[in-house]
Amino acid sequence: EEARRIHIELDPRLPPPQSCQLRDVFASEAAEWIGRRVLVQGWVHNIRFESKKLAFLDLRDGTGFLQCVLTDKLCMTVEAITLFREASVRLWGTLREDARAKGGLELHADYWCIIGPSHRDIEMILTHESNPDVLLTHRHLVIRGRHTSSVLKMRSIITQCFREHYFDRGYVELAPPTIVNTMCEGGSTLFPLDYFGEQAYLTQSSQMYLETAIPAVGDCFCILPSYRAEKSSTRRHLAEFHHLEAEMPFITFAQLLQAIEELVCDVYARVIHRGGELFRELNPNAAPPKRPFKRMDYADAIEFCRQHRIYKDEESRTPFEFGDDIPEAPERRMTDMIGEPILLCRFPIYLKSFYMQPCADDPDLTESVDLLMPGVGEIVGGSMRMWDHDELVKAYEREKMDASAYYWYTDQRKFGSCPHGGYGLGLERFCCYMLGVAHVRDVCLYPRYRGRLTP
Ligand code: 4AD
Repeated sequence: EEARRIHIELDPRLPPPQSCQLRDVFASEAAEWIGRRVLVQGWVHNIRFESKKLAFLDLRDGTGFLQCVLTDKLCMTVEAITLFREASVRLWGTLREDARAKGGLELHADYWCIIGPSHRDIEMILTHESNPDVLLTHRHLVIRGRHTSSVLKMRSIITQCFREHYFDRGYVELAPPTIVNTMCEGGSTLFPLDYFGEQAYLTQSSQMYLETAIPAVGDCFCILPSYRAEKSSTRRHLAEFHHLEAEMPFITFAQLLQAIEELVCDVYARVIHRGGELFRELNPNAAPPKRPFKRMDYADAIEFCRQHRIYKDEESRTPFEFGDDIPEAPERRMTDMIGEPILLCRFPIYLKSFYMQPCADDPDLTESVDLLMPGVGEIVGGSMRMWDHDELVKAYEREKMDASAYYWYTDQRKFGSCPHGGYGLGLERFCCYMLGVAHVRDVCLYPRYRGRLTP
């Protein structure tokens, strides 16, 4: 009743406000802003009433947070007492110093209004007890939270740092198509697609297109989605992930390993620098990876597992044999036991993709590498590429592939072939590693994995 009668108005006699984003306020010394009248707008992150005549409103505008104080009439209007979290609002007021407020500044409002109201349902949708599935269904709201929005911002910074790493070294960024009619990493994880009546797929990797581009632009890279119809949902597998891939002509296998180590360490340092406070808040225990990375052959990994009672199958305690694929769980156990980055090299030919260059000293092994990081496991996969024309044709036959679809890939070996190699890094896995996040889906805006297609 009383509220219905209370009306507030903007006072035209006050000094004109400076319109600003919250990042501007916290980018410079607090002292510079004390006493200034500003106009800010954003969303109500939180609102709490201390009394009938005093309310604290946490404003969020995507660039930062600001505590705003509403006093007297300002918190007694109908709008104030029916204000729900996540409403968008505009506030006019003066910035004052306050040691208790985060950032040392507080806005004392002299007027405010609602731009877009919210609804009381907001309190019911998300609670601390919400299970992960409910949270994922409402991810469009969850992302507004402090933690999730920080993770998304850090992912943006990490992506920027990767680009800077490449541009500093003269790489050219390319954009190969993601709708393809070839496979790169085996038929079992291909997503089929009807392409105007033709059989097509969502790409598993842009590698082969990057290979064709090295005679055109030299060192190149791309950051694009890749797709895998992964049947199992683990904490590191997505159906759609961002794949950072690079390809380099005239390199050796040793140089390839060096490039991967350099990439991870340089980007790590850049992220610490650019991420600053945001990064430290998310992962206070972060420590740069130890260099040089440990180089380990696949054969030695099998031996390590045998010696340290890491089994192929925990239940039956079946030991690993040379030639076995090392699945995710034992691979992680080994990596965590060793406790430092491992460049795992020289996998048997039949465990890896058709395009990998055999080792000169042992044709049953390939010049291949996986980078394993403690806590996450594999984050990079790479290799030298088969560059001899006839050898590649034989590999198509061995894998029962239709060579005609790969004519352009074969042509690269026909017109000026050269030794070359490259790698692919899973951006989400790298983000998990850097930010100390356990599950790849938590670093995606809207993750895609088996059983999840919304939002
Ligand atoms: O080891 P992969 O399958 O290698 C390739 O696709 C090569 N063609 C890349 C290249 O040489 N250009 O994948 C490379 C990386 C993995 O190490 C992993 O980090 C990520 O891509 N990755 C996935 N990330 C999330 N979900 C999945 N289902 C992934 N599959 C691969």
